[in-house]
Amino acid sequence: MNILGVETSCDETSAAVVRDGARILSNIVSSQIDIHRPYGGVVPELASRNHLQLIDAVIRDALAAAQLTYADIDAVAATYGPGLASSLLIGLNAAKGIALTLEKPFIGINHVEAHLYSPWLLSGRNGGIPSADVLPIISLIVSGGHTILAHVTGIGQHRILGQTIDDAAGEAFDKVAKLLGLGYPGGPEIDKLAKCGSREAIKFPRSMLDDPSYNFSFSGLKTSVLYYVRKNTQAHVEDICASFQEAVVDVLVGKAIRAAIAHGAHSVSASGGVSINSRFREKLGTVCAEHGLRLLVADSQLCTDNAAMIAALAYYKLRDGQTSDFSLEAAPSIGLGRARPPGAPSIMTDGPAVRPYHEL
Ligand code: KG4
Ligand code: ZN
Repeated sequence: MNILGVETSCDETSAAVVRDGARILSNIVSSQIDIHRPYGGVVPELASRNHLQLIDAVIRDALAAAQLTYADIDAVAATYGPGLASSLLIGLNAAKGIALTLEKPFIGINHVEAHLYSPWLLSGRNGGIPSADVLPIISLIVSGGHTILAHVTGIGQHRILGQTIDDAAGEAFDKVAKLLGLGYPGGPEIDKLAKCGSREAIKFPRSMLDDPSYNFSFSGLKTSVLYYVRKNTQAHVEDICASFQEAVVDVLVGKAIRAAIAHGAHSVSASGGVSINSRFREKLGTVCAEHGLRLLVADSQLCTDNAAMIAALAYYKLRDGQTSDFSLEAAPSIGLGRARPPGAPSIMTDGPAVRPYHEL
């Protein structure tokens, strides 16, 4: 079954064709980073205008790269939330229009849920149903808009254990980069500079690491960096980057491993832009190996926003008989939702609200 997926929740215009939920035939991602960079963050008006200009070409490119035509598409899926309202509408309506015209099923996908399952569905497999021996999974979603730790026992079977109470992890990287005068987005810049700095140079706080909950907080860390920079004008930016990054990584890895042990998990997975971070991958890999946990991480281009993860999850929704009505509206502030009880008919999305994508 070939599913065409469409993703326009923030600043990436993406379309993909995925066969049977795992085999990526194409995954076109057109990033708007260069457009938003001068503003230091995503400008919603510019984002939606660019999605509108690109969506048709990106979908055609995805079909061409998959060497398919519309006639080969069995279902169409699109992100319906969370994200920027005006951006979501572009991909959602394009996908609905295609599904209506082709008279094929339409599946609305929760963007965060797609991030949650993507490392399992898309980590190196070349087709086929994911093996169940990786379950249960402790899944970290660490992006510019979200920091969520969840317990996954099957597709559509997840429970949020904790999430950030203030800034998302990627938001902290972006804000710290901004106060250090680095470029946008800040994560890759800090990652690069941290390689030449000392992780032990500055002892920044590990916020909530010892808190019994699985929640996170990064705004205090950002403020600590701000005060440190003001006081120590001669400090090496590389040391600040390495020490800040280590503080974020310690908390993310520490909480994920604690959750994995407490819940008897077989695997730990990570997705979202921050999961590309080299030190995060290194440390999570080491600690998972020490505890006999399997680490599931997808290729970098599947960690950031992409339509392949939308099409992959849609396959399993469709297989379970879940399709969406053409009246499905964009849901900018939708939560990840609670686990779907076995046999429940539709996608349930009434979980705790997840903050929409940040604007700096
Ligand atoms: O998943 P994503 O593309 O978009 C959202 O859905 O939010 O994540 C973007 C975030 C940005 O905050 C960016 O700074 C961060 O991911 N990021 C990184 C790295 N690459 C991207 N953070 C730390 N290290 C990186 N190498
Ligand atoms: Zn995302």
